[in-house]
Amino acid sequence: MDSAMKEMDTVLETNQRTMFEKDTREQIAFSMPCTENYDGPVLAVSEQRLRSNARSFIAAMPRVRPHFAVKANPDAEILRIFKEEGCCFEIASSAELQSMVDLGVNLETVFYSNPIKSPASIRQAAAAGIQWFVVDTPEEVLKIATIKPDAKLYLRTEVSNEGSVWPLAGKFGASSSGILATIEAARNTGMQITGVTFHVGSQCTNINNWVEGIRSAKNIFAQLEDNGWTPELLNLGGGYPVQFTGIEPGITEIGTTINKELEAIPSSIQVMAEPGRFLVGSAGCLVTQVVGMATRDDKRWLYLDTGTYGGLMELAGGFPSNIVSQRAGEPSLWTMAGPTCDSIDVFGEHSLPSNMEVEDLVFITNLGAYCTSCACDFNGFPIPNIVLVD
Ligand SMILES: Cc1ncc(COP(=O)(O)O)c(C=O)c1O
Repeated sequence: MDSAMKEMDTVLETNQRTMFEKDTREQIAFSMPCTENYDGPVLAVSEQRLRSNARSFIAAMPRVRPHFAVKANPDAEILRIFKEEGCCFEIASSAELQSMVDLGVNLETVFYSNPIKSPASIRQAAAAGIQWFVVDTPEEVLKIATIKPDAKLYLRTEVSNEGSVWPLAGKFGASSSGILATIEAARNTGMQITGVTFHVGSQCTNINNWVEGIRSAKNIFAQLEDNGWTPELLNLGGGYPVQFTGIEPGITEIGTTINKELEAIPSSIQVMAEPGRFLVGSAGCLVTQVVGMATRDDKRWLYLDTGTYGGLMELAGGFPSNIVSQRAGEPSLWTMAGPTCDSIDVFGEHSLPSNMEVEDLVFITNLGAYCTSCACDFNGFPIPNIVLVD
């Protein structure tokens, strides 16, 4: 039995590895047009990938309406493609609100999911026609009550972020006492809380976090009913992972578990999610260039024209990555850094051919999300240009 299981494990591992390598090759293939006449870093974004990611999310969870988290990549063309694929949207700021106005979406379908909103941005959102606002503290309820007393409120609750690569717990999400206090604030202001949301952490590989979130939402719905309110929304947040190593759970596997949990949620409750990374991550591959090499004591350094400031903030934070060169050669460990004068502009050790040369191009896959949207042009180095490819 044991040996059969071991054999199965090996087959599975091989298949997953093959799947992962195939995906890397595909991302490099769709980026190739961006290598011609290279003139600075480019984030190649595949239109087909954007569309197929949206379709596989919808197919995996037919009851769950995807609201693309605009923060992951607010590029106007990307938003247009997701709109065409039937996605709705989730925003966190006035600038993201403006991108929705420019896109011409029905603003009643846009959710304002930043738990801390400035009064000015609440005023702008309310004037534009946004209906749904998240809350996770009594203070936020009071703030919204003075500006838009008829807002529809959904409560962000804390949930385990264990197993997510980029946890979001702690800063946001009401604890059980916070839930009681937030509900009381709503009651005192005459507002109603009719929805529940949570975020399992970004790049979450632990499906149980969603299970826990849905089960606890069910209990909170009962608390809302005790206040005479009728629950109408369950928002499953973001966190759906992309395949960095080939062993992350796929969207179908996550969907199967979530769909089963949703059987316990009455059909009168609309269910939505806020995928960011899953929808756009694997559609983006960064094409960047080696600008310098150095040997410092026993370490070999490779400097790229894109770094922590230019879009690789997550790599610098220890996020998994896949960095590939077109050059063939014996693999060697390089300490990699960006072009700026800052010492935080270093993003770990990575394997690349030992015979790398200045001006070689380097591909970094799965960077469609939180690359350009987190980048700045510190020191005057340009942020990657987004180029839509097939
Ligand atoms: C409120 C909210 N919703 C959705 C997302 C998107 O998460 P992800 O890109 O992990 O799917 C985030 C990410 O920070 C978020 O803060």
